[in-house]
Amino acid sequence: MEQILAPVVFNRHLTGDYWLIEIEAPDMAAALKPGQFVNIRIENSLAPYLRRPFSVYRISQDRRRIQVAYKIVGEGTRLMRDTMPSGGRCDVIGPLGKGFSLPPGAKRIAVIGRGIGIAALPTLVDAAAEQGIEVHAYLSARTRDNLVAEDIFSQYGFPVYAHTDQDSPGTLVTDPLKELSQTRKIDAFYVCGSNRLARVVHELAETQGAPAEIAMEQHMACGFGDCHGCVINVKLGRDEPEETAWKEVCHYGPVFNTWEVLHA
Ligand SMILES: Cc1cc2nc3c(=O)[nH]c(=O)nc-3n(C[C@H](O)[C@H](O)[C@H](O)COP(=O)(O)OP(=O)(O)OC[C@H]3O[C@@H](n4cnc5c(N)ncnc54)[C@H](O)[C@@H]3O)c2cc1C
Ligand code: FES
Repeated sequence: MEQILAPVVFNRHLTGDYWLIEIEAPDMAAALKPGQFVNIRIENSLAPYLRRPFSVYRISQDRRRIQVAYKIVGEGTRLMRDTMPSGGRCDVIGPLGKGFSLPPGAKRIAVIGRGIGIAALPTLVDAAAEQGIEVHAYLSARTRDNLVAEDIFSQYGFPVYAHTDQDSPGTLVTDPLKELSQTRKIDAFYVCGSNRLARVVHELAETQGAPAEIAMEQHMACGFGDCHGCVINVKLGRDEPEETAWKEVCHYGPVFNTWEVLHA
């Protein structure tokens, strides 16, 4: 983990409510594992005071630059859009947290993301592709222009199922995944951006006897386990329903097994 003032390569509109910033951060890019995150300082005078956590969306092929895809939701992300132009500087700490794991010998995985939660998945898909693992992607958003990363997954030739509430009201992006899992063995499932989808994915994984991981989003402050501001209740043993503990998402996560966090 390091803190640097990274040069901003560009900061431009991506699609819908989303923006994309690219920064030069060679050591961070080299060290980063899929699912880890960075914590960015966005300061206008003293507000907002706390850094803001973001998944790393893409790492450049030469592993010198990283991209963050971000949704404008409040003061911090508005300032990120307005005060970090290309040629400027981005104060960033990373890589942080514990990322996704690919089971040894996996042949086929499914990734399921909703909204800006999808931003956590491309680095995992890059790693899977490098290992020759087939990826089935299920991407969902409210509207068509808020659907990201479809192009990234399809450039590998992986099947991508894109779903929007706008086009397919009353259905879930996991409906075709259910069908696939009845005929094909899926070795691991990865989900982020929706607890509702995560519950469906958890059930499917349980039926297949496959692991399922979820990238959690939680309000954060320090981002590395010091302030205890991001704790969630986590189940300690798969088969011990009573045993739980409060754990920091930034340190023990943001990636957890679904059985650890979907017990409540
Ligand atoms: C590990 C991790 C990875 C993330 N990756 C991304 C990413 O790749 N792209 C992206 O756009 N966002 C991501 N987020 C969420 C991002 O951190 C928040 O959207 C951002 O901090 C909002 O800052 P703000 O000042 O604009 O909004 P604020 O003014 O702080 O909040 C605006 C609204 O967003 C809600 N909100 C703020 N932070 C969170 C959060 N962490 N979880 C849920 N709701 C929140 C607030 O409750 C409020 O309703 C991630 C969060 C975590 C913990
Ligand atoms: S944000 Fe400080 S402990 Fe997690």
